[in-house]
Amino acid sequence: MSETAADTAQRSLEHWSEAGRAEMEAFYALATEDYRQLAAAADWPALLGAQARDGWRLLDVACGSGKFPAALLRHTDLSALPPVQYDLLDPSDFSVREAKAQLRPPFVPGAELVVTLQDLPPGDPYEVVWATHALYALPPAELPAAAERLLAARREGGVGVVAQATARSHYLAFYDAYRAGVRDATPYTSAEQVRDALRGAGADVREQLLTYTTGTADRAVAEGFLQRCAFDDSVGLDAMEAAPALGDYLAGCRDDAGAWTFSHEVALLWF
Ligand SMILES: C[S@@+](CC[C@H](N)C(=O)[O-])C[C@H]1O[C@@H](n2cnc3c(N)ncnc32)[C@H](O)[C@@H]1O
Repeated sequence: MSETAADTAQRSLEHWSEAGRAEMEAFYALATEDYRQLAAAADWPALLGAQARDGWRLLDVACGSGKFPAALLRHTDLSALPPVQYDLLDPSDFSVREAKAQLRPPFVPGAELVVTLQDLPPGDPYEVVWATHALYALPPAELPAAAERLLAARREGGVGVVAQATARSHYLAFYDAYRAGVRDATPYTSAEQVRDALRGAGADVREQLLTYTTGTADRAVAEGFLQRCAFDDSVGLDAMEAAPALGDYLAGCRDDAGAWTFSHEVALLWF
């Protein structure tokens, strides 16, 4: 088992970069579905409309490349909403630039906060705070601090939501198998851990579960997606399939015709 690569949070930061663009695009060949599912999971125009007021603000935590606002703009009708200041938080300045380029009315680019969530300084709270498929690389040991910051960032009476895969879902199960078979590392943070940390910080959390599958019969597409799932493009699909634990996991994702199906269970944690 190789031990040379950086740990999870550092690999995440290295791959959310211009150098990681091709790998990121390969990942979203399948993962765009994650955001279509989120856009369909709630009545976002009504939820956001209930918060709208003069000078209202929204914080996107771990904004990545802005797939969630892009999905909302594409799949829902936000045209009745007044402009909202859309602040972007991410430790990767590449991510902040990518997400900013996705914003269209009613989302008006606001502050660019190039920090981790756990290092977010106190400030004026927001009407809306969300973190969508965002907190996997946040080290579990730093979750209590991160949950406190998340809760403090949401105005009393505002809307907060985290969308995160559960421990049995593909992203977590795959990474556990990768850690067992290829390279040890800090595990990804699960929805259950985020929920417990939010409750520990005093939040009243309501859970909503989404289940769906993504898949492909194309080996190159599967390889690109899976490499990004581990932030590791040094291990090809052949090597993944030959690795202990990971090989078994991937065999379990294949049907008789050889196509891959990945099973997702995502919790929306409303607070
Ligand atoms: C999968 S992306 C998030 C997707 C995004 N919400 C969207 O709508 O496209 C994960 C992001 O989390 C960021 N990230 C990693 N660790 C973080 C931390 N501790 N705090 C905040 N963001 C973090 C990464 O830099 C990356 O941009």
